[in-house]
Amino acid sequence: MLAMDIEKKIKDLTAELNHYNYQYYVLAASLISDYDFDLKLKELEALEAQYPDFADPNSPTQRVGGDITSRFKTEKHRWPMLSLGNTYNQEELQDFDQRIRKIIGDHFEYVCELKFDGLSISLTYEHGTLTKAVTRGDGIQGDVVTNNVKTIRSIPIKLKNGDYPDQFEIRGEIFMHKSAFLRLNKEREENEEQTYANPRNFASGTLKLQDSAEVAKRPLDCFLYFLYCDHRTNLFHDHWNSLERVKSWGFHVSEHTKKCASLMEVFEFIDYWDTHRHDLGYEIDGIVIKVNDYAQQEELGFTAKNPRWAISYKFKAERVETVLNSISYQVGRTGAVTPVANLQPVKLAGTIVKRASLHNANEIARLDLHQGDTVYVEKGGEIIPKIIAVNMDKRLLAATAFIYPLSCPECSTPLIRQEGEAVHYCPNETGCPPQIVGKMQHFIGRKMMDIEGMGDETVDNFFKKGLLHNIVDIYGLKDHQEELQQLERFGQKSIDNMLAGIEKSKEKPFEKVLFSLGIRHVGETIAKKLAQHFKNIDSLAQASIEEIEAVQDIGRRIAESVKEYLDNPIHQQQIIALRQYGLNFEIEEKEIVLASNRLNGKTFLISGVFAEHSREELAALIESNGGKMISSISAKLSYLVAGDKMGPSKLAKAEKLGIPMINDQELFELINLK
Ligand code: IVH
Repeated sequence: MLAMDIEKKIKDLTAELNHYNYQYYVLAASLISDYDFDLKLKELEALEAQYPDFADPNSPTQRVGGDITSRFKTEKHRWPMLSLGNTYNQEELQDFDQRIRKIIGDHFEYVCELKFDGLSISLTYEHGTLTKAVTRGDGIQGDVVTNNVKTIRSIPIKLKNGDYPDQFEIRGEIFMHKSAFLRLNKEREENEEQTYANPRNFASGTLKLQDSAEVAKRPLDCFLYFLYCDHRTNLFHDHWNSLERVKSWGFHVSEHTKKCASLMEVFEFIDYWDTHRHDLGYEIDGIVIKVNDYAQQEELGFTAKNPRWAISYKFKAERVETVLNSISYQVGRTGAVTPVANLQPVKLAGTIVKRASLHNANEIARLDLHQGDTVYVEKGGEIIPKIIAVNMDKRLLAATAFIYPLSCPECSTPLIRQEGEAVHYCPNETGCPPQIVGKMQHFIGRKMMDIEGMGDETVDNFFKKGLLHNIVDIYGLKDHQEELQQLERFGQKSIDNMLAGIEKSKEKPFEKVLFSLGIRHVGETIAKKLAQHFKNIDSLAQASIEEIEAVQDIGRRIAESVKEYLDNPIHQQQIIALRQYGLNFEIEEKEIVLASNRLNGKTFLISGVFAEHSREELAALIESNGGKMISSISAKLSYLVAGDKMGPSKLAKAEKLGIPMINDQELFELINLK
């Protein structure tokens, strides 16, 4: 290769891998298999080693990986959180073994462990109490996520009595069980919330939530696999013993761990788990092999990025080839169109795969899918099948590319795609059958208005018979007794039962009603947050996008969607009608027991994020001391309680009006708490 070509190759590979890293760590989107990523990384490493002058200082080979999100306090790790070198075959492991033998000779043992596919966490315990939990971040510093980690039941907050040191750091992997992942993802799909590609992304998305109460609802688990403390060798001399002991202190340590005297035994362990990994309730992506003895670990030491005494063996993602028969386009209740690949059925990781989600038009374009293509399918995180690429050798000569439909496959309305969004929508909300039926089915659902005696089929049937056109019609059904009686297989008892269920649903609180409306991107939790913050539909309808966005965990996309929904005259009419039928559009104020009157006559607005308290907690504190929360900045506002990352427009407005800004500590001082 010419020098110019090499330089270009290094530059291109660097840019490509940095792009994948960003997509993966920041956007949690995996565009390439781990295997292919590592191949490319190794290629780059080799080129850089040969031609160091061309290496980019920002090269992905210089990073441990990960990225720091900015919403949490970050903290430097006392012992850097390094990653492990990866191997993919026996030869590479033999090389690893040889390197070790050269340094420490032939007398040593390995400990083989499962490589859990989650996110690593470092826990600090002081005098038996969990005081800090920090994510890996970039390996040097990570996010402090202690409150969220405290919701994980298998992580002890206080240790039982034991011979643990006064201070130690224990590391492990936080993950989500496959069953919880499937259940929660299905719920998200039903709510038209963004689903996660695999349990690891779900776990990492969960850990990064600002609201610990929400984290607590999503079951996470954690295996611990490594201990650090001062004078560690006073406690134990090897890793195996450390695992035994930390288990006795109450930590969750995997039982599938094995001491191996030879590389042969290591290979046996690997082979066993390569075939049996699908039987586990959680995902593993390989095996970690560690030299057992601490003194030998020390002798081996570290390279810039990895320990020399440990390595990981990565399983190859199971990949098969099959034919893409067609693409269908499903229209959801909010009009979102999801393309689905219909595949020639094929066996993959223990199940028959017939379909694969294609997510959106970008994915189809990225894969450059053509009619009749033969595609490679992998199970993303073992569970959801994903098309990785097209086998170009098998592309038919006359094949034409798939073209994303311009109009809705259900009602022929031209599709729209909002700027910055990947998804196409059918805007015909009131005329597109799957949207009309889907919205009503959502409305009556168990977690929404929970209308007894009415199921998805009933809704579909009533829609076809012309009895229901929208959610408001549900409450008018009682005036259509005659038509109801004429329906086949729907006796008087069923009618009475259903009408009673409809009546009863009027008792549902505002947050449920808000969720039931089926506003795009507004799931159960978001609806609850909006209801608690705005108290009633009128304040919510009057709020600006910025004010909605100021609510914890609510981003721009959700805020815009809420605004758009409530600005639509059709929805405004529906809300008026539902209100007349007696549905709750405001929260019932709980009687507040006053802790003091110190904030009497003062008004407050909370904005931004706070390291130690949620906005809801602060608002409750203000109200219980006689203060009043208001939702917008005006001259009437007494104090703006300002945290980090406050919107610039709010800041400017408060400054212009000369409103005193205080932080959470100053608020406590006002109430005399500190
Ligand atoms: S030991 C210095 N053991 O794999 C040794 N890591 O690429 C640190 N992982 O960052 C790690 N299972 O997140 C170790 N049994 C296990 C593991 C494990 C999963 C993860 C961990 C680490 C990454 C290494």
